[in-house]
Amino acid sequence: MNIKNCINIEDLRMAAKKRAHKMVFDYIDGGSDDEVTLKRNSSAYDDYELMYRVLSGVDNPDMSTTLLGQKIDVPFILSPSAGNRLFHTDGERGPCIAAEKFGTVYSLATLSSLSIEEIGALTNGPKWFQLYVWKDRGLVKEMLDRAKAAGFTAMFLTVDLPIAGNRERDPKNGFTIPPKIGPKQMWEAMKAPWWSLDYLTKPQIRYANLSEETSAISLNDFVAEQLDASFSWDDAEWLLGEWNGPSILKGVVRSDDAIRAERTGFNAISISNHGGRQLDTSPAPISCLDPIRDAVSDKTELIVDGGIRRGTDVLKALAMGANAVSFARPYLYGLAAGGIDGAVRSVEIIHDAIKRDMILLGVQNISDIDESFINRLKP
Ligand SMILES: Cc1cc2nc3c(=O)[nH]c(=O)nc-3n(C[C@H](O)[C@H](O)[C@H](O)COP(=O)(O)O)c2cc1C
Repeated sequence: MNIKNCINIEDLRMAAKKRAHKMVFDYIDGGSDDEVTLKRNSSAYDDYELMYRVLSGVDNPDMSTTLLGQKIDVPFILSPSAGNRLFHTDGERGPCIAAEKFGTVYSLATLSSLSIEEIGALTNGPKWFQLYVWKDRGLVKEMLDRAKAAGFTAMFLTVDLPIAGNRERDPKNGFTIPPKIGPKQMWEAMKAPWWSLDYLTKPQIRYANLSEETSAISLNDFVAEQLDASFSWDDAEWLLGEWNGPSILKGVVRSDDAIRAERTGFNAISISNHGGRQLDTSPAPISCLDPIRDAVSDKTELIVDGGIRRGTDVLKALAMGANAVSFARPYLYGLAAGGIDGAVRSVEIIHDAIKRDMILLGVQNISDIDESFINRLKP
């Protein structure tokens, strides 16, 4: 399907499925175990209704807001995601350019396929750096220094991945990063000629922020070897001292953890379960929002991440007290379907939907979207 003809995120998902190798599409699309959380992340939005206001006279709503003291033109940012070159040769350039085009934050993953420095120099848009904590603390410190030097303004610390989740689509597809091309992969590669041409004729995927030596081993091995599952709240405090700037804790679903994050000194919390890729049957982020909003002070900003596909999802989260939302698969489907143009199209779809839905809701500004617009179907 032509990218321009994709009118919603599901269309982009289908276009990605068509263009990408099966193992690549499944890596983006899949979740852990029975994918209960993956499905709930989106379907939980149906537990809430939007109580729109009539005759509000709104015809050109202002979608801008602020996050960590930074003005952004839309109430969303782009979540971090690893190894984008695998999906398309444009790699992380796609979402980074899309974020700048729509006036919002791009967050670069530790395990990106383009380097901190390359992405830092690519656009003038605001950027955050997502961090996994490795056993090698020297590597952690080095990455933070590089991110700071390259103009990344906030540290996005992901803590829901002490080990990798059980994503069963990957071993079923014989998938590793970088991919090992066996007979099954060859067969699937023939069914995805554009992806294959792109993959085989352009520079190979590598983890651009790691050394050449580490880049050569598989992602699974590196993560299994280097992720520090013993990392604790005390270590998080040490890390905040090392970074000494705005910070977001990513992967929180419980209010006691949210309170602890606030006390430890994080400025914002990303309510997230890693898009249903980690602990299956963990709750949908939108259903964690009420208790977390009640538990922390207003100065702690909340970003809801997971399952967002429609403008109405965004407005529901804002009405329930989120400061912003974030998403990854929408732009990853776009990227896998059509590179930079596809990533831009995905963000455009969500941007246009929010604008339209703000008019339908009857609100001029993001700050006008309050509790009164939400009807909870479940107590
Ligand atoms: C293919 C893929 C790779 C991801 N890589 C990372 C990563 O490297 N670091 C991270 O913190 N989150 C990562 N995530 C999780 C996203 O940041 C985000 O939390 C999640 O995808 C949100 O759900 P959504 O995809 O339904 O929007 C990844 C998600 C996907 C789909």
